[in-house]
Formats: sequence, structure tokens, C-alpha cells
Amino acid sequence: MDKKQHGTKNGISRREFLKGSAGSLLMFVFFGLLSACQSQNQEQKPIETPENTEMTVMEPSTSSDPVLDDSIDLVSLNSINILVNKKHPLPEDYVPEGMIAPDVLCMKDGILLQKEAAEAIKEMFVAAEEEEIYLAIGSAYRSYAYQKTLYENYVKRDGEEAANRYSAKPGQSEHQTGLAADLAASNGNCYLKDCFKDTEEGKWLKKNAWKFGFILRYPEGKEEVTGYIFEPWHYRYIGQDEAKKVYESGLTLEEYYEILD
Ligand code: DAL
Ligand code: ZN
Repeated sequence: MDKKQHGTKNGISRREFLKGSAGSLLMFVFFGLLSACQSQNQEQKPIETPENTEMTVMEPSTSSDPVLDDSIDLVSLNSINILVNKKHPLPEDYVPEGMIAPDVLCMKDGILLQKEAAEAIKEMFVAAEEEEIYLAIGSAYRSYAYQKTLYENYVKRDGEEAANRYSAKPGQSEHQTGLAADLAASNGNCYLKDCFKDTEEGKWLKKNAWKFGFILRYPEGKEEVTGYIFEPWHYRYIGQDEAKKVYESGLTLEEYYEILD
């Protein structure tokens, strides 16, 4: 398929369519904070605090051209491939249907994902455990209202310009899709920190998440494209077939689907 052929979906072309004892005690305290995900939909306290807010420089991709599948629906609210970013927000009242509590280790109660993503994340965690990699979910679905609270708190703390580099405004967060998750090592090392990329868990996810349908949504050096600094913990479910293609392309979602404006 010629990548220059821009498919249409719902009448909207891609061009138009425009994330020792003391030690034991600490570990005990940390594990005490972890739980299997619960089914109730509790809101979470603002927690995302990336440490690296240095401007990143976009590097040219060395990967091959993608082969686009025109049947991929980047627009519909019920599509697992919906593209959400600063230019393509979600409606304020959008709440995904059929979310469930993933049956995996979570850092708090009330964590929800769309069913397909929840099942895929369980498969991924089980596969990781077989290689002695122990993962947890720190944050998944976030309502518009909760994202608003988060964003406003960040603006108060860091100012609007800085906050915009690491936090989505309400309606612009992939977390509102129920298809994105902030992942962590079960021991909490480097959670929401740039150093997560160097942990065994972070490295495992970068190498293997695509096999389960997840992509690293905000890669290093792509701030100008994604709008956000590197988030080695933020994974987005798009299904196994597309995740394989996007991963192998080395591109961001925006670049792969040629939705750059
Ligand atoms: N940290 C990501 C960009 C979000 O707020 O959705
Ligand atoms: Zn995230």
C-alpha cells in the first residue's frame, strides 16, 4: 500500500482528521500500598510529577516507511485506535463504555481500563513475571474532571508553560480513553521519573509491550511531535497488529498515521 494514499474513515481523511531491615521495612510499607485493582471507580490524587522537563530535540527517524492500514479508525470514540492529543481532544462528557478493573497489581484502588486493554495488560504482566519482571499500574482511566484538577494543580505549582509539557489539559489526555496506563515497577523504583527507562521493568516494557498491543506513547526526543516530554512509563493500547507496526516503524502515533497538524 502506498503510504501517500490517505484513507478515509467516516468521511474524514487522515490529512483532514487533523502517552537489611530498614530496606525490608520500606519494601513492606511500599507493598502495603499496592493492591489488586478494585472495581469501584474512585478518583485518584494528583500524582504525576515528571522530573525531567528539559526540552528534547527531535531526531530524524531512521526507520522504514510505514504501511498504513486504511481500515484503522483514528476518529471514533469507540475505536481502540482513536488518536487523542492536544489538537484532537475528547468531549468533556466522554466516558468509555465497559471499563473493568484490571486483574493485576495496582498502586491504588479504582484503577480502570477498557476491557480489551485490561485483558491485554494482564497477559503482559504475566509474561513479564515469567521473566522475573514485576509490574504495577499507577494510573489508568482518568475522567475529564479529574484531569482538570490535575492540570490546574500542576499549573499552580509549575506555571502553565511548564505544566503543558508534561500534563494534558482536560479533554486532551489519553487517560480519558481508558486505553492508557502509567506503569511502574512493583517496588516503586523510579515511578513517574525519567530513570524508569533504565530500570529492568522500564527496559522490559520498551522491548516487549508491543507484543501485547501497547506502545510507548511519548518517546524520548519527540516532544515537538507528541507535545509532551519523554514519559517512559506511559503506555497506550492500540491492539497487537497496529502496535507491532508502530513499534517496528520507530515512529510516534502522529508520525505513523501522518496526523501532524
Ligand atoms: N502526562 C500525560 C501527557 C497526560 O497528562 O495525559
Ligand atoms: Zn500517563
